[in-house]
Amino acid sequence: MAIKFAARMENIKGSAIRELLKLTEDPSIISFAGGLPAPEVFPVKELEEVILRVLREEGRAALQYSTTEGYLPLREKIAQRMKKVNVECQPNDILITSGSQQGLEFSGRVFINEGDVIICESPSYLGALNAFKAYQPKFVEISMDDDGMIMEDLEKALEQNPNTKFIYTIPDFQNPSGRTMSLERRKKLIELANQYNIPVVEDNPYGELRFEGEMLPAIKSFDTKGLVIHLGTFSKTFCPGLRIGWVVASPEILTKYILSKQGVDLQSSTIAQREVNKFLEMYDLDKHIDMIIGIYRKRRDLMLETMEKEFPAGVTFTRPQGGLFTWVTFPEHMDAAEIMKKSLEEKVAFVPGQSFFPNGQYKNHGRFNYSNMPEDKIVEGIKRLGKVLKAMI
Ligand SMILES: Cc1ncc(COP(=O)(O)O)c(C=O)c1O
Repeated sequence: MAIKFAARMENIKGSAIRELLKLTEDPSIISFAGGLPAPEVFPVKELEEVILRVLREEGRAALQYSTTEGYLPLREKIAQRMKKVNVECQPNDILITSGSQQGLEFSGRVFINEGDVIICESPSYLGALNAFKAYQPKFVEISMDDDGMIMEDLEKALEQNPNTKFIYTIPDFQNPSGRTMSLERRKKLIELANQYNIPVVEDNPYGELRFEGEMLPAIKSFDTKGLVIHLGTFSKTFCPGLRIGWVVASPEILTKYILSKQGVDLQSSTIAQREVNKFLEMYDLDKHIDMIIGIYRKRRDLMLETMEKEFPAGVTFTRPQGGLFTWVTFPEHMDAAEIMKKSLEEKVAFVPGQSFFPNGQYKNHGRFNYSNMPEDKIVEGIKRLGKVLKAMI
């Protein structure tokens, strides 16, 4: 007899792309498909010292249950670090989560009823779309240009969809497009959110990885009505394996996230929180981030230069000023999944872009990660793909 699952599971399916991506686990493949940090930037030696000290100095407390909100000294340090993006907040405005992915999941849980509208960038982060999909919303996508979401389209969408529950945005070095929302648009977005009284989920895992130019203030920094939920994480600036992220929100909203966390996992790992906290006490995270930036900037430059040389006319790509990804647009008649199949024969992988559009309408894009592959492989992989594209066009 068929097992009866909840209706919400019907929307969550493995895709053909996921099947293709499984092939990229083969170590002989040059993969631009993942979103992983470079493993060589992880501070393994320093963490050895940190972990020993946590266990020696606070072992019993570090192995015990702790509060749902999170370890206070860590929340104090995060509140300080939020000043980098102009956000003034207190430890009490912060909830520690298991990565920012958990903040996304809670956003779905706290806000979405079946059929509600979520407004998001087009394209947007697949992991967020899937987390939201479990709550059966309708997605309204807003086109982007190099300055982020187009505000006239956002305004129209808000006007036409009174059952909008929140606007989801990744303003800095967006996953998958690498684009950054301009200062003017950040201000316009908050103006519209205020006018329509709509919460904004601001997902910011990459903002600190800026290779050039000035860091922009978070949308949260313009939030006067307590509508912005800001999600942060140590995954891309430190180590994703520790699974430590955070939510900054107004008390009315944060309470709902805290209640969600109590139901889901009670708290984030006590020892992982104390390890991050101890690292921040013993070492200079900003110096560590500068080292990461140096490596990723070089890899981005190399990937874009090689694309410029090796890709045929008619293929374009974004020029991210930070983060992990560039977004490639192939001629309209081409299907990136077909390109991926051919490029896999040459042992090169990327992510075909269709799944980043929640309504699945565009097939001629691809997401390319430049943080994870060493430099010689970036050049070799893009050269091989250039040949594939020339043969196909
Ligand atoms: C835009 C975006 N949000 C959230 C996440 C989740 O990150 P984590 O849960 O590791 O903090 C990612 C990971 O790649 C991401 O790209």
